[in-house]
Amino acid sequence: MSCLREMHLDDLFKFNTLVFDPFTEVYGLSFFMRHLAQWPELALAALSPQGQLAGFIFGKCLPGTDAADLHGHVCALTVESHYRRLGVASLLMNHFAHLLDLRNAWYVDLYLRCSNQAAYQLYCALGYCLRRVLLEYYPGDPDEDAFDMRKPLAIDVLGHSLLVASKQSVHLPSDEESDDDYN
Ligand SMILES: CC(C)(COP(=O)(O)OP(=O)(O)OC[C@H]1O[C@@H](n2cnc3c(N)ncnc32)[C@H](O)[C@@H]1OP(=O)(O)O)[C@@H](O)C(=O)NCCC(=O)NCCS
Repeated sequence: MSCLREMHLDDLFKFNTLVFDPFTEVYGLSFFMRHLAQWPELALAALSPQGQLAGFIFGKCLPGTDAADLHGHVCALTVESHYRRLGVASLLMNHFAHLLDLRNAWYVDLYLRCSNQAAYQLYCALGYCLRRVLLEYYPGDPDEDAFDMRKPLAIDVLGHSLLVASKQSVHLPSDEESDDDYN
């Protein structure tokens, strides 16, 4: 049984074992510091019964051009390898969605590596839909494409936020924010 709480600044010095996973996006300290300063209540830690950090999520809430574009975005999610397949990621994701519901956000979206099967299965199980493929989103050798997935929140009863799903392959448009914009 895990419990959730907001991330604390000193958690940033305790999560080395979580970020060694090749599928965990590793951002600079400035990313996490600025994130905690801007959205302190949307960065959550899952603790094991022994009080160890079992996983975390860094989410944010972004205004859009109109009220129906207010949405959440998952920047980082990871679960320590010993605590996987126990529902920890689902707990973090569902609680983040609940916090967004309280803000009347319309949808939550996220990007993941196309090769990340576990994460893809997780997000499908949680009701996320594939919206499009972002070409060469993750720089590397070779660059890797990303799936852009989205899930309507409680306020979007008719699923309007999914209507623009194209499933096409595109490069991230320059007017859209990448996860590491404030690295
Ligand atoms: C992806 C990840 C976050 C899943 O965390 P988790 O706590 O194990 O996930 P949950 O226990 O909540 O899994 C819920 C469901 O997701 C799916 N799922 C999760 N991991 C899976 C895997 N390895 N293979 C297939 N399906 C998987 C299953 O449907 C699972 O339900 P089930 O266990 O009843 O079959 C975890 O494997 C992880 O931290 N990976 C490395 C970092 C990462 O990929 N982060 C996401 C970046 S976008």
